[in-house]
Amino acid sequence: MLTLSAAIRILPAVFVTSVIASSNITYNVISLVPNNTTVGVIIDSQVYPLSTVSDDSALLHIGQAPAADTYKYALLFKENTTIIETESFARNGTNEDTLNEYYGRSWNSWALDKIPTILPPLPIIDRIESKLHIDGEIPTIHLTGNQTAIDYMHANQESKDIDIYLNMTYISPNAVKSYQNISVAISGHSTRSYAKLSYKLKLQKDDDLYHYRQLKLRSMATDSSYMREELAYDIAESIGIPSSRYSYARLYMNDQPLGLFGFSENLKNPWIKNEFAAGSKKYVRGTLFVTDVSGGQSTGGGQVMGNQITDTMDHQATGAMGNQTNGGSPPQNQTDGGMGGNGGGGGDSVSSASTSDLSYLGDNVTLYSAGQYSLKEDPSTGTANYTRIMDLTKFISEQSNTTSDDSAISLWQEKMDTDSFLRGLALEIVISNSDAYFTMANNYILYDDLENERLLFSGQDFDLSMGHTMYNVTLMNGANYTEYPGFSTRPLMTRMLQVPQFKQDFENLLVNITKELVNLEILETRIDQIAAMITEDVAWDKSCARVGSSSSSGGGVSSADSNTTSTDIDFVSAVNGPTNVSNNLGIKEWLSLRSTNLLSYFNQTM
Ligand SMILES: *[C@@H]1O[C@H](CO)[C@@H](O)[C@H](O)[C@H]1NC(C)=O
Ligand SMILES: *[C@@H]1O[C@H](CO)[C@@H](O)[C@H](O)[C@H]1NC(C)=O
Ligand SMILES: *[C@@H]1O[C@H](CO)[C@@H](O)[C@H](O)[C@H]1NC(C)=O
Ligand SMILES: *[C@@H]1O[C@H](CO)[C@@H](O)[C@H](O)[C@H]1NC(C)=O
Ligand SMILES: *[C@@H]1O[C@H](CO)[C@@H](O)[C@H](O)[C@H]1NC(C)=O
Ligand SMILES: *[C@@H]1O[C@H](CO)[C@@H](O)[C@H](O)[C@H]1NC(C)=O
Ligand SMILES: *[C@@H]1O[C@H](CO)[C@@H](O)[C@H](O)[C@H]1NC(C)=O
Ligand SMILES: *[C@@H]1O[C@H](CO)[C@@H](O)[C@H](O)[C@H]1NC(C)=O
Ligand SMILES: *[C@@H]1O[C@H](CO)[C@@H](O)[C@H](O)[C@H]1NC(C)=O
Ligand SMILES: *[C@@H]1O[C@H](CO)[C@@H](O)[C@H](O)[C@H]1NC(C)=O
Ligand SMILES: *[C@@H]1O[C@H](CO)[C@@H](O)[C@H](O)[C@H]1NC(C)=O
Ligand SMILES: *[C@@H]1O[C@H](CO)[C@@H](O)[C@H](O)[C@H]1NC(C)=O
Repeated sequence: MLTLSAAIRILPAVFVTSVIASSNITYNVISLVPNNTTVGVIIDSQVYPLSTVSDDSALLHIGQAPAADTYKYALLFKENTTIIETESFARNGTNEDTLNEYYGRSWNSWALDKIPTILPPLPIIDRIESKLHIDGEIPTIHLTGNQTAIDYMHANQESKDIDIYLNMTYISPNAVKSYQNISVAISGHSTRSYAKLSYKLKLQKDDDLYHYRQLKLRSMATDSSYMREELAYDIAESIGIPSSRYSYARLYMNDQPLGLFGFSENLKNPWIKNEFAAGSKKYVRGTLFVTDVSGGQSTGGGQVMGNQITDTMDHQATGAMGNQTNGGSPPQNQTDGGMGGNGGGGGDSVSSASTSDLSYLGDNVTLYSAGQYSLKEDPSTGTANYTRIMDLTKFISEQSNTTSDDSAISLWQEKMDTDSFLRGLALEIVISNSDAYFTMANNYILYDDLENERLLFSGQDFDLSMGHTMYNVTLMNGANYTEYPGFSTRPLMTRMLQVPQFKQDFENLLVNITKELVNLEILETRIDQIAAMITEDVAWDKSCARVGSSSSSGGGVSSADSNTTSTDIDFVSAVNGPTNVSNNLGIKEWLSLRSTNLLSYFNQTM
């Protein structure tokens, strides 16, 4: 591992002018260049080829040249250093070695304001300090290796059991880190049918990238704003629930640029100890379950599930979304968004009981381990305790569905971390999440908190949220939270809210998260900053050839959807609105609507 670092960022020009001596410094710049060309730096009309290519990645060009007041990078013919093109702007000079810069981007670090923290982290959280996500930086990830294997993986994008092994180099402004033999696989469910694919990465056992080994590269293929997940993870952090953090990365595989991706933690080891025990090796971990409408493949515990049934559900939902997006007409009321899941295959309505929605399925624990509560990580010792889930669902089913009193609080708290449920479920409603507990009984986490012998709740994968929905838009963005799709049909909430204190807590969360955070006034600055930061990379992303095929949909995904969701709505509209697509609103457009509606129900305004 080679680490290139420079303590000093770009200095103010006025200071630079007075101190820069004529000594050489090292210039470092990332660029995928055609064969027989190289990168050079132009200083006072003089061309200096950066002729060293990093041993870690052919994308990183390194060379010595004089320190200067201003400079530009350029693409050169290798044999005669003739300039093919230069950057369109001048960079401010420094008398230190440069950071690892990116050709064509004038900045290494973009100033982003943080959003306020509105709730203390849940007591169970003890998150490790990590440089994995540096706000305002976009590192480059270069995966290299057997191109035949990469092509094979992409040609079989719907197949969930292809892991290939590649080398990886991670290049951020301040660091270069290389890893051998990381496992790379396509990730996601319905999004597998998109031309731009998501990936999961797994480093070898003794390796880590800033304490993490299992990472996700999220394609953002359904999100024309490229920032729904960035914002949602910011919000999750602000309300103190356990989750990944999120940032961006540029991805290359061998000689191919794949575009701009979201970079997140896969909620698998060592995430658990990083999140709950600051990375302590001594931490005794409980089981981590992630409900997953088509999960269950990588359980490691030999769990087998009804893939066909759940795949169909998932695809139905996506198909429905595609039709709406496509037509641009007001969506039909789709409380059915592909639900079902009892194996009946009907998928008629969100109200169908689902095996992964905390419904009590009887006292045969095998019924809970059949895949719907997908085992993401085994406990440190012993085996996954599905009895914990069975007991909780039984408890829920036995709770009164008419108003009870606060004496029930301690009983609930014995079975579950009630604050984690209240915060996590309030988040679903506030951000209008289409792919979570209420809507799909999907994508939520249950963690077996061994210390308290109860289950903790949280969420992940927020790409279908904030105005992009496959459910009834009136209900998803509406005022009355009890009409939110799935709210009253999933077994948990109607019963939990019979306890007066829980109801009050939940409503306070809805109001406070909206008033203090999820509204245009608070979030607009960061939205604008993120948009400005990623604008050039979004344009670059759209220019990258896609390695997947959008027409290879296995089970009813409308290929039109794959083609239209991220390309038909331009980036600026997707951020600001109006999009004129009622189920795929611009982020700001949605924020105004959502906060106004939610608050009006409580007779409040911003
Ligand atoms: C360079 O040429 C080789 C062989 O002709 C080819 O495989 C590779 O993709 C080329 N690299 C670039 C960056 O064009
Ligand atoms: C690169 O240059 C070599 C010799 O200079 C030549 O044989 C080769 O064809 C060139 N490759 C490309 C892709 O232009
Ligand atoms: C500075 O770098 C240039 C270009 O690489 C080289 O020609 C020159 O010899 C270097 N000067 C010193 C003092 O190292
Ligand atoms: C430099 O080399 C390139 C590629 O070999 C060639 O096309 C170009 O004409 C050359 N330029 C000069 C000024 O020799
Ligand atoms: C160079 O510095 C000036 C003055 O600080 C600043 O306005 C400008 O944006 C900088 N240019 C770049 C490319 O960073
Ligand atoms: C990974 O890197 C190592 C060391 O550079 C090299 O020996 C190996 O062939 C590379 N593996 C792949 C799949 O490229
Ligand atoms: C590259 O991958 C293909 C497909 O998996 C495999 O058949 C081939 O043997 C691999 N080549 C090398 C050099 O490992
Ligand atoms: C999508 O639209 C097509 C053509 O309009 C229609 O045949 C299909 O049933 C629709 N799918 C869904 C899920 O609404
Ligand atoms: C959709 O749902 C809303 C809210 O329940 C209702 O007002 C509206 O009439 C419904 N539209 C259709 C087409 O069913
Ligand atoms: C529990 O369910 C499994 C799977 O449906 C079944 O094979 C097993 O016989 C059941 N056990 C009992 C005691 O009913
Ligand atoms: C599994 O969970 C049940 C229900 O909470 C509990 O009674 C039992 O002790 C747990 N088993 C282990 C091994 O932790
Ligand atoms: C309320 O609970 C009772 C007893 O548990 C049950 O029979 C009834 O169906 C429930 N009603 C609703 C609306 O869920």
